[in-house]
Amino acid sequence: MTALMPVLTSRWANERSWTLEAYQAAGGYQALAKALTMPPEEVLNLVKESGLRGRGGAGFPAGMKWSFLPKPDGGPRYLVVNADESEPGTCKDVPLMMADPHGLIEGAIITSYAIGCHSAFIYLRGEVVHVYRRLLAAVREARQAGLLGESVLGSDFSLELTVHAGAGAYICGEETALLDSLEGRRGQPRLKPPFPAVAGLYARPTVVNNVESIASVPWIVDKGADWWKSFGTETSTGVAIFSLSGHVARPGQYEAPLGITMRQLLDLAGGIRPGHELKFWTPGGSSTPMFTAAQLDVPLDYNSVSAAGSMLGTRALQCFDETTCVVRAVSRWMDFYAHESCGKCTPCREGTFWLRAVMRRIEAGQGKMEDLQILEDIPKSIVGRAFCPLGDGAPSSLVSSLRFFRDEYVQHIELGRCPYDHTASYLFQVVTP
Ligand SMILES: Cc1cc2nc3c(=O)[nH]c(=O)nc-3n(C[C@H](O)[C@H](O)[C@H](O)COP(=O)(O)O)c2cc1C
Ligand code: SF4
Repeated sequence: MTALMPVLTSRWANERSWTLEAYQAAGGYQALAKALTMPPEEVLNLVKESGLRGRGGAGFPAGMKWSFLPKPDGGPRYLVVNADESEPGTCKDVPLMMADPHGLIEGAIITSYAIGCHSAFIYLRGEVVHVYRRLLAAVREARQAGLLGESVLGSDFSLELTVHAGAGAYICGEETALLDSLEGRRGQPRLKPPFPAVAGLYARPTVVNNVESIASVPWIVDKGADWWKSFGTETSTGVAIFSLSGHVARPGQYEAPLGITMRQLLDLAGGIRPGHELKFWTPGGSSTPMFTAAQLDVPLDYNSVSAAGSMLGTRALQCFDETTCVVRAVSRWMDFYAHESCGKCTPCREGTFWLRAVMRRIEAGQGKMEDLQILEDIPKSIVGRAFCPLGDGAPSSLVSSLRFFRDEYVQHIELGRCPYDHTASYLFQVVTP
């Protein structure tokens, strides 16, 4: 299996693909019309049967999550689309929303119908102002066309869809911190249980799903669960967007069935940049343990990647060639986690602070051999003890880099400097204005 399979990305290159006119010309909103002829439970069961797993990182089955909502009690229930996309390396939701905002809106309407929601939200990271404007324009278009508001497409189903811009905190992508932020509070994770399905936004039953998960729904409704299951593996069904970045010849979004390997994706992307070879890569962003060339043939599905010692995460495939100093790369990631730790719990707040401090001194050539033991010990005080998964994921790149490249850490300490020539690496070049 080496072929790409454009589904969610299939309309991206169409002329003015983001407009309602272009979307409808490509068959858009037909799935919504079909869904509205079905009882809501049938739509929910269809998604359950498709095996669609959440594309926001954890891979939880979407239909199962929807079915956790308690029975309707006459009060409101909400859908919140997670469009925070802040994990370093993750860059699929922004292009999806720019090129195909109606694909997401159609998915949000169908999902709302399936779960009995009449007020849905898209929580977007605030920095992407261009995406915010595009979504607002698309929602306006959809509303004018009778696809949102009272009587969607003349049915007795009504839905309001609000696009909310956050303020750019990584932790606000964690679903409960997101809900606090959406309610107007400082975004910090909530204690679970209760899970959002039981007490989410404004303490009401809430479904939180990733952009790509929701944008997959119209395809499943339109073409059926068996069609979706005909791609991917038994436990990781369907197609997904793989984002290749870094030292790769043709970086970009590659949509393919789950289970494709990194070797196949690299072939499609023209390989590592000419004259260089792969040193390490992340399968799911900087919160997932790194891999090396030894894992190029691991099928990129949820189970195989975790069996190989990492996580599929958001399929943010960041590639680093032999010019990259692993200590320097990990040090930048530790800067990120220390900065983005929300400070609510001590293991993560203090642990990420010290990981950053020790990494910086090793990178600067001022490390001691004892520092390596400290780098082994601190993660043990964070992982499994932190209040939310940000803490669990923060030391992943560090721990895995020590496993694969310990000698490079030792070299930095023994030489008292970085052995790499950073001017040769465009990825880490310091650009002065
Ligand atoms: C620190 C942190 C950041 C996260 N950021 C995102 C994000 O930007 N987008 C996203 O969909 N999920 C993110 N998640 C995962 C969400 O908590 C949640 O699992 C997801 O939105 C559920 O959607 P899904 O089931 O469709 O994947 C993040 C989790 C953590 C711990
Ligand atoms: S693990 Fe980190 S981000 Fe999560 S609650 Fe604790 S301090 Fe905040």
